[in-house]
Amino acid sequence: MARKRVAVLISGRGSNMASLIEAAKAPDYPAEIVLVVSNRPDAAGLALAAKADVRTAVVDHTPFAKDRQAFERALQTVLDEHRIELICLAGFMRLFTPWFVGRWSGRMLNIHPALLPAFKGLNTHERALAAGVKSHGATVHFVVPDMDSGPVIAQAEVPVLADDTPDTLAARVLAVEHRIYPEALRRVAEGTVTA
Ligand code: GRF
Repeated sequence: MARKRVAVLISGRGSNMASLIEAAKAPDYPAEIVLVVSNRPDAAGLALAAKADVRTAVVDHTPFAKDRQAFERALQTVLDEHRIELICLAGFMRLFTPWFVGRWSGRMLNIHPALLPAFKGLNTHERALAAGVKSHGATVHFVVPDMDSGPVIAQAEVPVLADDTPDTLAARVLAVEHRIYPEALRRVAEGTVTA
């Protein structure tokens, strides 16, 4: 079966993007990362992608500040040019309108650094420590119009240790993110998980 053509959308560091690119090198992986798109021209992940010989594009959101759908139309044009079939959001820091989410329903994945439905939104590690939870983790889910909601594809749990700081906890969570995102994309691309 043809491998699914995937775009990874980033805004920054791109470590999850790199884990997807690495996983997709396996000959039996059912998806190929054909494009990395950043909404920020200075995202560090762009250089990582280029180094891995993956095509990159920048769709800067700033000229579209007053019209979110115009930004999304520009993004859609780039995705169409590359015949993208699945989108992986990986540290992409923009919210989409229901129009774009509907356009990609069941074909757009996101990774969130918490055990959803706990700790939606930002600063999840700080909030987990403040709440005193004993376990924390990461979730890959299909994107729906409500932020950090949508059917869960994969989750992994990590312990919260007594001396954790947000940084030490984030590092422990990130390690499992890099494992579960490639697994989740594999399942979606081969069709064993659907929204
Ligand atoms: C990750 O923690 C991811 O879960 C969250 O943003 C962070 C992105 O990190 N959505 P990176 O750019 O993949 O290194």
